[in-house]
Order: sequence, then structure tokens, then C-alpha cells
Amino acid sequence: MQDLLKESGYSEKAIEYYLNKVNVGEMSEPDAHAIYTGPCGDTMEIFLNVEDGVIKEAKFQAIGCAGAFSSGSALTEMIIGMTLEEAEEIEEDEIIEYLGGIPMQKVHCTCLSKRTLQKAIKDYKEKG
Ligand code: FES
Repeated sequence: MQDLLKESGYSEKAIEYYLNKVNVGEMSEPDAHAIYTGPCGDTMEIFLNVEDGVIKEAKFQAIGCAGAFSSGSALTEMIIGMTLEEAEEIEEDEIIEYLGGIPMQKVHCTCLSKRTLQKAIKDYKEKG
């Protein structure tokens, strides 16, 4: 599996995230939460704990590919300690850079995690 992923263009870090399911899980009482289905048909769910506008904990679940899982892990790691405004502005290329590379045809998968996060933050802000 590891070799297959490497040959497809995933970095060591992206493979490690995918195989170890980093930050994959649920929260029973998240402060912010969203489910989003991307144009590819894959779905992600993100859970956040927020304190004074800062993200303290983040988990996610996905029905998706290795690209979805590795970018979900990366994004949920990147946003810990960020304000909601900072997290909201993270772009796909920052997730890819953090991961150290994913296959070209998987670049859109980072958009699934970005959009799910943005939806969770938007819903949280609207809730007041
Ligand atoms: Fe849908 Fe990767 S193909 S998230």
C-alpha cells in the first residue's frame, strides 16, 4: 500500500497521515460542525472545539479517497491554535505544501477539506 501511494505521487507525510488516520474521529459536543459533499461525490465532516475564537481541537471523518483523508489530517493539524478568521483563509496550496505533495489529480481533494472547514466556521459564526 505504502509503495502504491508513493508511486502515485503522495509524499511520505501524506502517506503517514492517511495510514495513521491522524485526527480522524468525532466529537460528541463540538462547538462547530459541518458536513460537505464535493463535486466528486465524496463527503467530509469536521468537528471543532473553539475557545475565545481560537480552535482548540479538530477532528474529521470522510467518505473519500486517500487525498481526502491526508488533506483532512493536514488541515485539522494546521488549524489548531489558529483564530477562526485565520483558519477560514487557508487555501488548497497551503494544505498541499504542508503535506509535502500529493498527486496532481488529487489536488481537488484538498478543496473538500477546505470547503468543509469554511462551512463549519460559517455555521458557527451564524449561530452567534
Ligand atoms: Fe473526492 Fe478525492 S476524489 S475527495
